[in-house]
Amino acid sequence: MTNSPLRIGVLGRKGGSAKSTTSYNLGGAFAAAGLRCLLVDLDSQASLTRALSDAPLSPEGGIGARIAEPSRGLRDTIRPVGDLLDLVPGDRSIEVAAAALAQNPAGPLRLRLLLDEVAADYGAIIIDTAPMLGFTQTSALLAGDLAIVPTRTGAQQDIDALVDIFALRDELAQYRFATATLAAILPSNYHADEAPQRDGLAALRAGYGDLVADPIPHSPLIERAINARLPVVTNSPKSTVAAAFRALAARLNPDSDEEGRFTAETQSAQRIAENGRKETTKKVGGGR
Ligand SMILES: Nc1ncnc2c1ncn2[C@@H]1O[C@H](COP(=O)(O)OP(=O)(O)O)[C@@H](O)[C@H]1O
Ligand SMILES: [Mg+2]
Repeated sequence: MTNSPLRIGVLGRKGGSAKSTTSYNLGGAFAAAGLRCLLVDLDSQASLTRALSDAPLSPEGGIGARIAEPSRGLRDTIRPVGDLLDLVPGDRSIEVAAAALAQNPAGPLRLRLLLDEVAADYGAIIIDTAPMLGFTQTSALLAGDLAIVPTRTGAQQDIDALVDIFALRDELAQYRFATATLAAILPSNYHADEAPQRDGLAALRAGYGDLVADPIPHSPLIERAINARLPVVTNSPKSTVAAAFRALAARLNPDSDEEGRFTAETQSAQRIAENGRKETTKKVGGGR
């Protein structure tokens, strides 16, 4: 029997907040810990797809075409992009699909159904979104079990923009859609030596408390890794930024230890806990 994968939407309506960087490197952290991971590029700019593969973007081979025509499934769109790391490519047709489905309230639910069909093959599914409120944000909120929202901290407008995502989530929930739980606000590309960024981080923590994850530091190793087409946890495993992504993976995965590994012990302890038994034979370190 396979457990169902962690489904994580990486949200935010601001460009440049590190959604694609987070999607890739979080996926890399899961993969490095032994969890097969599927990345879904829901951005019609397809920056993640372009960065990770040279294969041409054909409209019928991207996520948009399959949202338009879900009976075709996703399976033949999937490309391997690393060890235990696969990708559903993005392409322009996401916008076409969104426009065609504008009058169909079920449109943003299609992603979840498409993912259901391939879910058994994966331990984690990560959905990268386009930087605007609308179809891709809604689709990711409805397809994800968890949502994370990366944000830069140096400008008030970035912090203010978070509210729109929370409002969208709350509105969907109000209409009784099963929406992703907001698991973390993720301060991204963080320069600790810049006062506006430190102030922004403090303001986030004051406003949102434990929802604010430990920041992902700014690092030139991020660009170096993507140029090598490797997640930073693989390309520079000992770096601070790699450790930050492993810690994020551990925060999001209840089955992992604090290094982001998924041990048989923690998994079986988790299962025992879920089965409601009183005692576990071993004490295990929690991931959170
Ligand atoms: N921790 C980081 N260190 C250095 N550069 C980063 C970091 N996070 C993101 N970047 C850079 O910031 C830019 C925007 O990130 P990206 O992930 O493309 O944002 P989005 O997908 O939200 O538009 C990219 O050039 C990326 O390489
Ligand atoms: Mg992006």
